[in-house]
Amino acid sequence: MRVLVTGGTGYIGSHTVVELLTAGHEVTIVDNLANSSPIVVDRISAITGSSFDFHSIDVRDEAGLDDVVATAAYDAVLHFAGLKSVAESVERPLEYFDNNVTGTITLCRVLARRGVRTIVFSSSATVYGDPPSLPLTEATPPGAPTNPYGRTKLVIEDILTDLQRADRRWSVILLRYFNPVGAHESGLVGEDPKGTPNNLMPYLAQVAVGKLDRLTIHGDDYATPDGTGVRDYIHVVDLAAGHVAALEKLVGVPGAHVYNLGTGSGTSVRELVAAFETAAGRTIPTVVGPRRPGDVAANWCDASKAAAELGWVATRTTADMCRDMWRWQTQNPDGYET
Ligand code: NAD
Ligand code: WQD
Repeated sequence: MRVLVTGGTGYIGSHTVVELLTAGHEVTIVDNLANSSPIVVDRISAITGSSFDFHSIDVRDEAGLDDVVATAAYDAVLHFAGLKSVAESVERPLEYFDNNVTGTITLCRVLARRGVRTIVFSSSATVYGDPPSLPLTEATPPGAPTNPYGRTKLVIEDILTDLQRADRRWSVILLRYFNPVGAHESGLVGEDPKGTPNNLMPYLAQVAVGKLDRLTIHGDDYATPDGTGVRDYIHVVDLAAGHVAALEKLVGVPGAHVYNLGTGSGTSVRELVAAFETAAGRTIPTVVGPRRPGDVAANWCDASKAAAELGWVATRTTADMCRDMWRWQTQNPDGYET
């Protein structure tokens, strides 16, 4: 298959490109490098021994994107390009709607013009809002996301579903990721947050490596077994493999297809801290702070639809996630600029 990957130098995109190339697919990346490094291109080549095209283009640049899409007969697009910080989206909602929503509309216009009608979209568990019940299945109605970032995801899901209703030839594949963590086992690609991380796993890793003093646990009075927030953490390489499985099953299969990609089980903040301490072989100082606004108590998915229909299951354990994150962090203490 020939696959266009937007946002392919980012965290999840880079791991997915590795899995695509390893599976023998041809890849072209489009990324404006707003939140990634060009070094990623060399790292992917080093892991896979394969070459691929990279274009430094913004997906809102319709003419530039059209030039890329016109040059080859793409079977599908994996659309990762987007801004993803919840906190930043609260401060800069227009930027988030413009980048994520306008970017997707521009991309779809180009694809439609060039006859590419399979799109895999990086959606998020955030579209479920505060879970009415657990586990979350694809039949759980999307709720009210608690921030502008989450609302861009829900709006884009609606736009793509309407596009498919208007032209039934489209294969729209909405993948709702739970909490992607970890890194490639080579330690060559991983998550490289700019500034202080907002998310738990990169924060933990930076405390463990000594860049940050201690982890603040955002609340220990939730109605969960140990009072801390529970999430469905999924190894980024399992998530990447989920994209390859979805593509191989659904390219050219008309419809709007929705899948949760998670492990199907929840881990608390305290449990993840303990697992990371074991992986890193050191104690991680913690302090309990207040709840973080907008956080839900617990969130995990029913992953059985992807297993039954895509033949995909997440196989990597929490220990694997922590071990691979720790390898990435120690080999690249300052990320790609190390
Ligand atoms: P990331 O920031 O590492 O990767 C996104 C990539 O898109 C970056 O390389 C960035 O430079 C690029 N990009 C952003 N705007 C662009 C534009 N207008 N044109 C071209 N390139 C652009 O993020 P990630 O964690 O790899 O996330 C990938 C996708 O998955 C995003 O859409 C994100 O919202 C979604 N997602 C992420 C998570 C998560 O926890 N990481 C969870 C659910 C969904
Ligand atoms: C996990 C748990 C925190 C940091 C976010 C986005 C979501 C999706 C994935 C893109 C929670 C606790 C965290 C810290 C803590 N992204 N925590 N101390 O909030 O589940 O999901 O990333 O779509 O949209 O909201 O992930 O890693 O930030 O938090 O105690 O310093 O860790 O309260 O219980 P979250 P997270």
